[in-house]
Amino acid sequence: MSEETATLGMNGADDGAEMPVLSGSLGPKVVDIRKLYAETGHFTYDPGFTSTASCESRITYIDGDEGILLHRGYAIDELAENSDFMEVCYLLLNGELPNRAQKDKFVWDITHHTMVHEQLAQFYRGFRRDAHPMAVMVGVVGALSAFYHDSTDIDDPYQRMVASYRLIAKMPTIAAWAYKFTIGQPFMYPRNDLSYAEDFLHMMFAVPCEEYKVRPVLSQAMDRILILHADHEQNASTSTVRSAGSSGANPFACIAAGIASLWGPAHGGANEAVLNMLGEIGDVDNIPRTLERAKDPDDPFRLMGFGHRVYKNYDPRAKVMQATCHEVLNELGVKDEPLLRLAMELEGIALNDPYFVDRKLYPNVDFYSGITLRAMGFPTSMFTVIFALARTVGWVAQWNEMIEDPSQKICRPRQLYTGLDARKFVPMHQRD
Ligand code: SDX
Repeated sequence: MSEETATLGMNGADDGAEMPVLSGSLGPKVVDIRKLYAETGHFTYDPGFTSTASCESRITYIDGDEGILLHRGYAIDELAENSDFMEVCYLLLNGELPNRAQKDKFVWDITHHTMVHEQLAQFYRGFRRDAHPMAVMVGVVGALSAFYHDSTDIDDPYQRMVASYRLIAKMPTIAAWAYKFTIGQPFMYPRNDLSYAEDFLHMMFAVPCEEYKVRPVLSQAMDRILILHADHEQNASTSTVRSAGSSGANPFACIAAGIASLWGPAHGGANEAVLNMLGEIGDVDNIPRTLERAKDPDDPFRLMGFGHRVYKNYDPRAKVMQATCHEVLNELGVKDEPLLRLAMELEGIALNDPYFVDRKLYPNVDFYSGITLRAMGFPTSMFTVIFALARTVGWVAQWNEMIEDPSQKICRPRQLYTGLDARKFVPMHQRD
């Protein structure tokens, strides 16, 4: 694979470990440290894995300095402009865009797996009505492994494909029902005559009492939002899915773990946190105080929707999301939406503030997605649910790639131990 090597000399000694340097097709080379501990007795130390490649992957490539995001080589803005979510799902899973026959079969297969076992509906009734929909998602998706035993053998490629299709197909139904349950409305069943995005909007907002027509601009915006959130290399939730899957856990449990990780406000929960933050700011006059708090190292407050672990340039998804946001607000006649105006003011001020400029903190995909989803009628509590719905295909594609990777091992990092050395047990009567 590579003739290049790196030598780790301890304290300048020239007899350190020699390790291969591996080159990918794009992006940074990696120092293969798999033999480091055996040869030196040392671990590496990299909290948050900011400098660590956890795997080899062919699915998504990100160049954070150039603001590049490729899915199987295709740029995100080209996919958002010219493709649709079903095509992107096929691409992420199979590595190539489908031809007409392949697409028709894939869409038919997904469409005909959107129903869930009728008993699954009982799980919702175990939650309080005011439960956060993400709590419901974690519980119900994890419960799928109790219903679909015929697709949990991870060593059977056919069963992996069936589980993958089931997860992609059933997520809109499970997500929409999580919303319907919290507002006390009846569950709407999926409809095979609607597209994936149309069907989700229909299950979200239709009621049995009257016909509900999905507006094309909204279903197109929904489809684009799903594309923009489909996959993103080894982010926190994808790494969680890979880690869970590395133990041989079934795919439904792994995706439930991914949903749990995505829920955090530093990750997928940011779109909900952006709206809550804009609501707290309330008025343009309060922006300076907000930025002061975000810059204060002693204040845990962060400017939600800004910054990224990888992008030190504009998040390419944010550009597309901003355009989609304006399209939706214009279509709905709310282009003067106060929160959008506040968001634009905040963006303009922050991008001229040396703190953000010096740290290359730009708006990320979550900055505009929340405003768009709110305008479309989604409650903020559903924003991260929609992120999870979209990211399911990325998690599933990465999970399959991990299972098929011959070099894959159980995920088991080590540590830098700073605790106490061995000491004698102290019986109760001798304790202070
Ligand atoms: C997603 O990984 C992915 O790919 C995630 C995601 C995906 O598709 O899966 O892209 C989706 O999670 C997008 C990110 C959504 N999160 C938010 O919008 C929450 C707000 N952002 C921050 O919490 C933060 O930017 C993170 C968590 C996203 C990144 O954190 P890092 O890696 O610690 O950021 P950094 O190392 O670049 O920080 C550099 C400096 C630090 O200050 P100093 O130590 O230099 O003084 O910038 C500061 C940070 O404290 N900083 C911020 C900030 N983000 C970083 N200061 C104020 N507000 C912020 N938003």
